[in-house]
Amino acid sequence: MIDVILGLQWGDEGKGKIVDYFARDYDVVARFQGGPNAGHTLYVGDKKVVLHQIPSGVFQKDKVNLIGNGVVLDAVTLKKECDIVAGFGVDLKKNLFIAERTHLILPTHRALDKAAELSKGNQKIGSTLKGIAPAYMDKTGRNGLRVGDLLDKNFTTSYIRLRLKHQKLLDNFSFSEDISVWEEEFFEAVDFLKQLNIVNGEYFINDKIREGKRILAEGAQGSMLDIDFGTFPFVTSSNTISAGVCSGLGVAPQLIRDVIGVTKAYCTRVGSGPFPTELENETGEELRKIGNEFGATTGRPRRCGWIDLVALQFACMINGVTKIVMTKADVLDAFKELEVCTSYKIDGKESKQIPFRLDRSKVEAVYKSFKGWNTTTSTAKSFKELPETMKNYVDFINQYLGVKICYISNGPGRDQLISI
Ligand code: GDP
Ligand code: IMO
Ligand code: MG
Repeated sequence: MIDVILGLQWGDEGKGKIVDYFARDYDVVARFQGGPNAGHTLYVGDKKVVLHQIPSGVFQKDKVNLIGNGVVLDAVTLKKECDIVAGFGVDLKKNLFIAERTHLILPTHRALDKAAELSKGNQKIGSTLKGIAPAYMDKTGRNGLRVGDLLDKNFTTSYIRLRLKHQKLLDNFSFSEDISVWEEEFFEAVDFLKQLNIVNGEYFINDKIREGKRILAEGAQGSMLDIDFGTFPFVTSSNTISAGVCSGLGVAPQLIRDVIGVTKAYCTRVGSGPFPTELENETGEELRKIGNEFGATTGRPRRCGWIDLVALQFACMINGVTKIVMTKADVLDAFKELEVCTSYKIDGKESKQIPFRLDRSKVEAVYKSFKGWNTTTSTAKSFKELPETMKNYVDFINQYLGVKICYISNGPGRDQLISI
């Protein structure tokens, strides 16, 4: 049996905190896509940790954490993360496993990411520049190198061959970068990676399922960044939606039980691309300030706006969401009035659907106003302590989406989570 936790918006919904919390009830936590573009924040005691590739269950005692084949892995970032996690006394030999089919991000993938973004000028995606798209391109183009290949004595030869191909592409971009330091770091990190538990991920996880173990699949990014269903081309390069769990871990669809979607009580986006409810005004600034909306991976300020129920309903449909977790409700404490986007006006016509090219449509968000609760909620421990105004807000979203908000997160702390 597998439950999934994934983001319903444009990423950074608070998945790290929620996975860390829920992981207590599971035996295995597995990442199924994405790579070091992710930044999942959680707290261990009062210490903040940002995980990029290691699953967010790693701080719960005796949990098995698997980096699945659907991930693209940067060995250098992984080594740094392992050092941080091991610093908390976690035994990674016991708790961390990596699927041998996981594709590797090479130093030249990072250079290619930079070159491609530069060449796009003001049409740039706003990539995290971690080499994600070039690594997935080499996967689908059948050129990539995988973790299992590291154990092959001809790995260096294969590496050099691929680097040569990348060099030609970089020349085409007229882009040059001295990658010798990255390369040195890469080979050091590869030696480290080879010492970790490299397994056949699909047998590993299916054996666990057969033994009756409970699996939690952890998504990265968000549904609106999905390569197929997101706001293409302003998306990431993997299937961030629940369908990605099957191909990203090697598990059958009928094994998936709950799909737990995480949304903020408002909305953010980092990088370029359409964002119908964006507030480019003082209210947006206030959300950014109170919500501390700066990228966990890149430090970039996040664009902020009101919650978008058109996009959320779309995400619930595509993912088959069964439960919703609403995070950062406390960030709205300061606002006297809240807006909820209930439809789009596209070229003058009202619609509740996401159009083919959101970026090319003239979209105006249509809002319903709500009275804000304008009181402190971060200290509440139970649903009954929450103000009626917040309950109304939550009720309306439940009704609109036809899926229930089952948890409200009211602070970044591990236990600031209220079950409904
Ligand atoms: P992820 O990528 O989905 O894991 O989210 P990030 O870690 O990138 O961003 C979420 C940010 O919000 C982090 O700084 C969290 O510590 C913080 N956070 C999570 N839940 C809450 C919450 O309920 N309230 C507040 N104020 N902060 C939260
Ligand atoms: P988590 O898991 C928010 C965004 C980038 C850019 C686009 C493509 O922390 O929620 P990429 O590096 O994949 O080529 O970037 O996707 N992006 C994210 N935004 N949270 C993330 O991850 C993201 N990962 C990528 O900003 O717009
Ligand atoms: Mg993040």
